[in-house]
Amino acid sequence: MSTLSAVIEKVRPTTEDDITAEVLRRFENTTDPRLREIMQSLVRHVHAFIKDVQLSEKEWWRGIDFLTKTGQKCDAERQEFILLSDVLGVSMVTDLIGNRKPAGATESTVFGPFHRHGAPELPPGGDMRSVERGGITAMISGRVLDLQGHPIANALLDVWQAAPDGLYDVQDTTLDKTNMRGKYRTDAQGRYLVKSTRPVPYMIQSDGPVGQMLRAANRSPWRPAHVHFVVSADGYSPVTTHIFDAGSQYLNDDAVFGVKNSLIVDFVAHNTADEASRQFGVAPPFVTAEYDFVLAPLTK
Ligand code: BEZ
Ligand code: FE
Repeated sequence: MSTLSAVIEKVRPTTEDDITAEVLRRFENTTDPRLREIMQSLVRHVHAFIKDVQLSEKEWWRGIDFLTKTGQKCDAERQEFILLSDVLGVSMVTDLIGNRKPAGATESTVFGPFHRHGAPELPPGGDMRSVERGGITAMISGRVLDLQGHPIANALLDVWQAAPDGLYDVQDTTLDKTNMRGKYRTDAQGRYLVKSTRPVPYMIQSDGPVGQMLRAANRSPWRPAHVHFVVSADGYSPVTTHIFDAGSQYLNDDAVFGVKNSLIVDFVAHNTADEASRQFGVAPPFVTAEYDFVLAPLTK
């Protein structure tokens, strides 16, 4: 047999489906079974997508360019890939899969790109504002409870939000990096008290490839007004969540799909000196919101 006929005797993939099958076969020897499952499923779905839309080479290059620009936009302060995952709903789908909670436990939502370690520890009622930027003062209070309704003492609430101009401290180079951030502990009755400003709706960062994609798709870049929390306590499963202002615009079309009914809270206006004004030592006008966080026990 000639060398040529010996070489071509092997059946080679020729059709699109042959290529898919051959790529899957090459992952068969992956020693880690979970990695094998993930890679093979990824290949199956990406190939199916390309065949489904009959992707042209020009469109493929456009996609490569988009992903390249997404990577190039990332640095220590900016994570364009997380933003991409958020606007595609991928962050919320993984959140739902990874954070199934027993009934009654506070639901989680998207983490977002603006959490920073090292927020200042504040006493109950301590002000998250390190600089004055306008807005209406908000007193957010409630308890941290277990599933049976018992208070959890010494729980930690790591809280952050955008300033009244809709910007996080890391987006505003004139601010120090601890504005609108604070860590609070619950007291023996499980109570916490946050002093901040009424949250405002804001646009997610739209000056990069993700923003360009949203504009091309005619999609809104707005998030409804919210405050971020990570609530944790020894022996309990921590929850990463927000509370949303019930009076906010965009609750029905959050750019990153993070709204859950159980996380929507009334922010009550106080325009005259009243009982709340005396209780919190705050002059009107201000708003109050009440929310109890419920933690499930830690599971292995
Ligand atoms: C945020 O709420 O901070 C956020 C979440 C997802 C994308 C952009 C911002
Ligand atoms: Fe946010």
